[in-house]
This record gives sequence, C-alpha cells and structure tokens, in this order.
Amino acid sequence: MDTTHSTENSNIQLNSEERGCQFNTEKYLSIHAYPTMIPALNFIIENLIRIVNENKTRLGHDRALEFGGGPSLLGSFLLAQKIKSIVFADYISHNLTDVENWVKEKPNAHNWSDLFDRVIQEYQKQTEDMSVKRSDWEKQLREAIKHGGLFECDVNADDGPVLNGEPKHYNVVLSNQTYYIENEHRHPILSLNRTFVIEALRDAGFEDIHDESQNQELDKVADGNAVMIITAFKPKSSI
Ligand SMILES: C[S@@+](CC[C@H](N)C(=O)[O-])C[C@H]1O[C@@H](n2cnc3c(N)ncnc32)[C@H](O)[C@@H]1O
Repeated sequence: MDTTHSTENSNIQLNSEERGCQFNTEKYLSIHAYPTMIPALNFIIENLIRIVNENKTRLGHDRALEFGGGPSLLGSFLLAQKIKSIVFADYISHNLTDVENWVKEKPNAHNWSDLFDRVIQEYQKQTEDMSVKRSDWEKQLREAIKHGGLFECDVNADDGPVLNGEPKHYNVVLSNQTYYIENEHRHPILSLNRTFVIEALRDAGFEDIHDESQNQELDKVADGNAVMIITAFKPKSSI
C-alpha cells in the first residue's frame, strides 16, 4: 500500500548530517499533522481506512513496515489496529526521536489528538462502529511500535529492512510523503511518480495493482502535483 505525493524535482544528494539539518521536525508537524493546513490529508485518511477495511480478510496481521514514516504517525495509527508489530523506519534520527517521545509518552512529544480524532471520526463514519476510542487506538499504536521497533536507515540501503532479509517478512508495507522542501531548498529525498511506483511493484512480483491517485495543485510546501494512493497485493501463491 503506498500513499504519497509525486514530485519531478531534480535530485540533490545530501549526507546524513545535512539531511538532519534540513528537516525541521517541529515545523513539519506544525503543518503536516493538521488536515486544515493540508487538505490532502483528508483524502489520505479516507482512502487508507477504506482500503484497510475493504481488504481486512486479505491482510496478514503479524508485521508491517512503514518507511519514510518519521515523524508522522498517521499511517501507523490506523495499521496498528489491525497489525501487531510495526517496524518504523526513517533515515533522519530526530524524526524517529519524535516518534519515540510519543511512544514513551514524554511531555515534549507532539500532540496527535487533532489528527487521530479525525481518523477515528472517519473510521466511525465508514464502519458505523461508534465504540472505537482514541485512547484504545493510541495504546495499540504504542504497543505495535514497541513490538516492531524504530529503525534509522536509508530504505535504499542493501542492509536496511526493506531490501534486505526475508522477502515474505512483512504482511503490509506502507509509505507516504517521501519528499519535502525546507529552507527554500528542494529535497526530493525519495522521488516518486505513478509510473515508477507501479513498475517497481510489478517488478517485485506484486499483482492486483490499484491506482487511485488524484491530481492536485502544486503544493508549495512539498512541491507535489498529485496525491497517490497505490495498493498492490502479493500473489496468493507467494504467501
Ligand atoms: C516529508 S517526510 C514524510 C513523513 C511522513 N511519511 C508523512 O507522511 O508525514 C519524508 C520522510 O521520508 C524520510 N525519507 C525519505 N527518503 C528516505 C530514505 N531513502 N530512507 C529513509 N527515509 C527516507 C525522511 O527522512 C522524512 O522523514
């Protein structure tokens, strides 16, 4: 499952320290954790909930990988309700620290209530299950991330959790918003577009690929011109 904006920026190679300096976690969250600031978040929330619910019988429930996730907990918040263990990977350490602060309930952690309430509200609307509570879902999320762990790594690295290891290790892989602009520099840290994602999924042996992407006006903060929702499934014979 992939939800991401696409970008056609030119690539700027940064080393690990430079990447960290370029990403202001607090500033990012002050915008990207609020659907009022980023209306595309509503599209992502609505579709993630729909896709997870429509496919609940097809989902394995043991392990998920979220990559390029930090510092956002949106996708994992939903996944944790279905999947026991989430490996949360990102290559910027202070993005992971922010997630860790939330998992450990530190006072300086970002307050996700606003976005999580929006997710719960949408879930209730789609499922008519009014019994779900944010506090229960938050508990599940903390447990799933504690179980899977936080990993500082480049997803393109041969020894990282994406390209390395057991091909059948994860039941669900989720990634979103893998680029960003900061300090007026364009940094397409993982440049993506529909064709690239679909071809990569096909090459990796996935089938039943659904592209429900939506064009959008150029986003000044993130320089994307579409919100992509691409879902793909492993062939039954390979599971
Ligand atoms: C714009 S933020 C998006 C965060 C979150 N997924 C969201 O939707 O709000 C992009 C994240 O992807 C991470 N990232 C980009 N390329 C990566 C790579 N090759 N390996 C690991 N993390 C990467 C960045 O460190 C950053 O935390």
